[in-house]
Amino acid sequence: MRNSPRIMKHLTAEDLLATLRWRYATKQFDATRKIPADVWDALEESLVLTPSSFGLQPWKFLVIRDPAVRARLQSESWNQPQTTEASHFVVLTARTDVTPSDINAWINRMAEAQGKSPDELAPLKGMIAGFAETMSHEARHAWNMRQVYIALGQLMTAAATLGIDTCPMEGISSAAYDRILGLENSGYATAVACALGYRAEGDKYAATPKARFERKAVVAYV
Ligand SMILES: Cc1cc2nc3c(=O)[nH]c(=O)nc-3n(C[C@H](O)[C@H](O)[C@H](O)COP(=O)(O)O)c2cc1C
Repeated sequence: MRNSPRIMKHLTAEDLLATLRWRYATKQFDATRKIPADVWDALEESLVLTPSSFGLQPWKFLVIRDPAVRARLQSESWNQPQTTEASHFVVLTARTDVTPSDINAWINRMAEAQGKSPDELAPLKGMIAGFAETMSHEARHAWNMRQVYIALGQLMTAAATLGIDTCPMEGISSAAYDRILGLENSGYATAVACALGYRAEGDKYAATPKARFERKAVVAYV
């Protein structure tokens, strides 16, 4: 818990960097290896725990278990084999809008979690609604998509700390995914996908040197 005495061991800075350098976008997964249930459970929870703007959590994460559905998705993913070879495959979807009923649901949930009455949270509710109203429908969808990418980042990093490989995937046809997954007119739309599992021994990308701009090109001090 956040405010109880520290009972967990934090990673060292060195371990953190080793973990982040160990992670790479895995192209070839070992199709014979499955993520154990307890590890998968923690990764699902990492999605649930993702922070979002105002806490709105404008998303649904679809864990695609049906091999036939995964095969159909692969053909809408530039035929990328990660879609079917990885142990697990998640489609991260975003709410296509932020409506008063979304805001209500969140305020009620927050009140419940914090032992308050929804009335106490009325000022916050008004602020969120005011903020959402300044945007067009498209802008609200785009806002939600940005929140979903935070979940993607959290999932990948959480996975790496547990020794699980991932491949984030934007090389997918979102419209076809929506059709296959029955999302059309559901209020949710595909944003991005993520394959998770264990790297195959022969995946040459594991040995490809990490290529990043130098720190001084991307970090500035003001
Ligand atoms: C949002 C996003 C979408 C991506 N889509 C794909 C994809 O569809 N297929 C793929 O093989 N890699 C995909 N990648 C992986 C990137 O190419 C990779 O992260 C980048 O080249 C950096 O390499 P590294 O992750 O191995 O360090 C994606 C990465 C991100 C963050």
